[in-house]
Amino acid sequence: MPADYKSWPKFLSAIQRPDAKQVREIYMNPEAAKATASSGFANGTMFVMENYAALETTDGKLATDDKGKLIKADLLRVFVMGKNAGWGQDVPEALRNGNWVYASYLGDGRSKGPEDTATCRTCHLPLANKDFVHRYDEHFASRK
Ligand code: HEC
Repeated sequence: MPADYKSWPKFLSAIQRPDAKQVREIYMNPEAAKATASSGFANGTMFVMENYAALETTDGKLATDDKGKLIKADLLRVFVMGKNAGWGQDVPEALRNGNWVYASYLGDGRSKGPEDTATCRTCHLPLANKDFVHRYDEHFASRK
């Protein structure tokens, strides 16, 4: 877990996931910030995604602020993905996501989350043509 990730540039902010009852913040390291849509992300790239519970009202509905956005409550998980030369080659070929490796932490940022990283790989695998990054197009569109 990179200790200083909160000082990194934002990849995307306040991602609304009412389906998962969550709000997410994604940070990228300075290496990732150098990428362009055509170059893609170089080795040394790292992303950190904070998954916050969306605040619920007492009747179990999702609360929203005056702009209609979900409101962050507890930090549930911190997901990390990074790529580098030779990384991720020890996993079965069918689950390999190029050179990316994945990790999940609890909200304290230290204890490992319960997720099996095979589930991360399975869900990011279809994004192979976007370097396994789900919000690739949205991110580069947001930089303009
Ligand atoms: C069910 C599908 C699914 C699973 C499982 C999953 N992800 Fe993702 N991931 C997504 C989606 C979709 C996004 C885009 C942000 C959003 O909509 O929440 C994303 C975004 C990310 C990002 C930000 C970069 C990007 O791709 O846009 C990181 C980092 C990340 N996931 C790490 C993980 C880790 C670590 C795990 C396993 C512990 C994991 N993910 C499991 C679907 C998944």
